[in-house]
Amino acid sequence: MTACSVPSPIFSHISLGRLGLANRIVMAPMTRSRAGPQRVPSRLAATYYAQRATAGLIITEGAHVSPEGVGFPGTPGMHTNEQADGWGSVTREVHAAGGRIYLQLWHVGRVSHVSMQPGGAPPVAPSAVALDRSIYTETGLQPASAPRALERAEIRVVIEQFGRAARLAHDAGFDGVDIHAANGYLIDQFLRDGTNRRADEYGGSIDNRARFLLDIFEAASAVWGPAQVGVRISPLHPHNGMHDSDPQALFRYVAHSLAELGAGYLHVVEPGAGHPSSTAAGLHMIRALRQAFPNRLMLDGGLDRSSAERAISASKADLVALATPFIANPDLVERLAKGLKLALADPRVYYEGGAAGYIDYPSFCGRE
Ligand SMILES: Cc1cc2nc3c(=O)[nH]c(=O)nc-3n(C[C@H](O)[C@H](O)[C@H](O)COP(=O)(O)O)c2cc1C
Repeated sequence: MTACSVPSPIFSHISLGRLGLANRIVMAPMTRSRAGPQRVPSRLAATYYAQRATAGLIITEGAHVSPEGVGFPGTPGMHTNEQADGWGSVTREVHAAGGRIYLQLWHVGRVSHVSMQPGGAPPVAPSAVALDRSIYTETGLQPASAPRALERAEIRVVIEQFGRAARLAHDAGFDGVDIHAANGYLIDQFLRDGTNRRADEYGGSIDNRARFLLDIFEAASAVWGPAQVGVRISPLHPHNGMHDSDPQALFRYVAHSLAELGAGYLHVVEPGAGHPSSTAAGLHMIRALRQAFPNRLMLDGGLDRSSAERAISASKADLVALATPFIANPDLVERLAKGLKLALADPRVYYEGGAAGYIDYPSFCGRE
């Protein structure tokens, strides 16, 4: 595929730590809930990701770092040898197809239900602040279960679980890891003061609330080196009942600290990030993060070819992540390069459904 024949900044080569990426289009992480009750990535997952290997970089769906990190049916983990073997097949097939792939490390925290927790225990969180909404469980929608606050000593255990998952990812042949600190899951629950009411060194001031993320970052960098570790944040996103009293100050501190530690990228997901000027606060936030984080900045949320090009041309970002367009367009990069029509995905099979709506979307040429 000769995407480079089209003069557009999104198809240009870029380095990411030790890696060279063929283009700047990233396949954003997407949970597809097809890992079954053992939560082991299947052969289908290897085919699905390999079909999308022309993305400059693939970030996998979230992989939980422990049984307590689970909050959705059928999501894969990265804490057992079987799971690591399953991911090994994924990385082999993606690399054979010429792609690059990072594993997203995930812990849902309070976004869970007792039916998905070991021994039916309450989910864990920085503080006992419940999520006021229903979530998907094996038996349909249920109100999220009230969480309990992690004990001080347990926080260290969770940090080590992230470090172990980073090690398993390394041994399974990934090219790096993406730490999921966005969208209201455990790390985000520590970051934002709407959910973090702790009085110890993991709560209160901004530097205390950021400590959990930075400790996890250091655990992953001990395995990978900081340049192969990226962090995903969603500073203004209210998803999963999130809010903060001063997101500008909090996320400037996070970006600055991660820059000092040498993080490979900062991955910013916001509603309409493709159009940051549509909200003054969003534009202001992205400018502030750009200033605080001189390494690779990745934008995600509602992007299409022209908004992605504008973001790169105006130096708002170095990389652009697209999610839903990759579901029905395995050859998305080629379609964008050649201006081909994009297929629409069927949202009924975003989650679960086996091969249907997963590996059966043809490439554009395959339709002819
Ligand atoms: C089916 C689906 C599953 C998703 N799963 C994840 C996930 O596992 N981790 C994550 O960080 N974001 C996840 N997201 C959010 C996407 O990565 C992305 O931020 C969002 O879809 C906006 O991008 P888009 O407008 O290009 O689709 C998911 C989105 C979709 C549609």
